[in-house]
Amino acid sequence: VDDLLAEGVAGRRVLVRSDLNVPLDGSAITDDGRVRAAVPTIRKLAEAGAKVIVAAHLGRPKGGRGLASGGGLGAVPPASTGAPDAKYSLRPVAVRLGELLGAEVALAGDVVGPEAKALAGSLTDGSVGLLENVRFDPRETSKSEAERAELAGEFASLADAFVSDGFGVVHRKQASVYEVARVLPAYAGGLVLAELDVLSKLTGEPARPYVVVLGGSKVSDKLAVIEALLPKVDTLLIGGGMAFTFLAARGHDVGDSLLETDFVETARKLLDEHGDKIVVPVDVVIAQALAPDVEVRTVAAEEIPSGWKGLDIGPRTVELFAGSIAGAKTVFWNGPAGVFELAPFAAGTRGVAQAIADSAAFSVVGGGDSAAAVRLLGLPEDGFSHISTGGGASLEFLEGKDLPGVAVLSEGNR
Ligand code: 3PG
Repeated sequence: VDDLLAEGVAGRRVLVRSDLNVPLDGSAITDDGRVRAAVPTIRKLAEAGAKVIVAAHLGRPKGGRGLASGGGLGAVPPASTGAPDAKYSLRPVAVRLGELLGAEVALAGDVVGPEAKALAGSLTDGSVGLLENVRFDPRETSKSEAERAELAGEFASLADAFVSDGFGVVHRKQASVYEVARVLPAYAGGLVLAELDVLSKLTGEPARPYVVVLGGSKVSDKLAVIEALLPKVDTLLIGGGMAFTFLAARGHDVGDSLLETDFVETARKLLDEHGDKIVVPVDVVIAQALAPDVEVRTVAAEEIPSGWKGLDIGPRTVELFAGSIAGAKTVFWNGPAGVFELAPFAAGTRGVAQAIADSAAFSVVGGGDSAAAVRLLGLPEDGFSHISTGGGASLEFLEGKDLPGVAVLSEGNR
């Protein structure tokens, strides 16, 4: 974005794609980390006199899963329904962004329609406006390249230049991330550059021992990254709901815990080939239901009774993981160790986060959930070398995949 600033942006309309996909409780933002991370680039452009039009998504309003919140053990986000739904409106985000910028952020009531055009036309130099959730337009995430390109053309008509700053979404080939960068002069934002810089340290020659902690609910989401990381890491600590597929692969009965039966065989293969590196829970916190006030027990990982489900890693596992983390020189953590949103199942995630914060290792937290956990559990953010705003994006980067929203910037559309 420095190139764009050097060219001069005063009076120009700049479309900034940010990742403002924050967890909400009703209309209250429970963790504003991504909004805060988006501010520096927006502020820089505004201070240089640009008319800043911010584009962002919230959740997955057209079906499928919502924001990947509650990615701990067994907490699968609710399916969403239907067309533009007020609960996916960016209104609360516009308010928060305005507070952080110290200036009102006008929200257009549509994505590229009359309100968006009116907003783009009415911005004064140095002011900031936000388009409504880009995923309200089905072309944003369409499988049809032609449809995405059509929407990108409409985004382009709102602005003179494009800044890609939504690191959390650069792994998505979507209209406001990818196609728009082919029609407007496109620049990488400071957040995207900073994230790539830090994550490159993990894909380069990380200081050893290199310990990776993975959690979250689904093995299926993480298999690719597990396979890519195993040859590179010294130790892989597995918590969260995905641990039960590994425990089942070891031949344990996991009761009613989250289990992806289709992946047990793959987990078994990984344990056979890399068993010396993979550490799975030795004890778990179990309950009969996922609720804040249920009876909770801690049992050995191989002693989960039927009718009970594992919802957090137990204290012996926390100790085991913490020992490994304490000896590490590089740590990457993605995915909560348990359903940390509920107090009885938060200790595992807190323990892992605390161990990382206490270690002197170069530490990177990746993933909306783990980053939110750090803040929601009140851990000091400066205990971590870097808290990434990317979930899937940081994982795909570590897998060595091309990130379309980054790759497109090298096409040199200026
Ligand atoms: C995220 O939450 O990881 C990003 O905002 C991307 O969201 P998505 O997984 O719904 O594309």
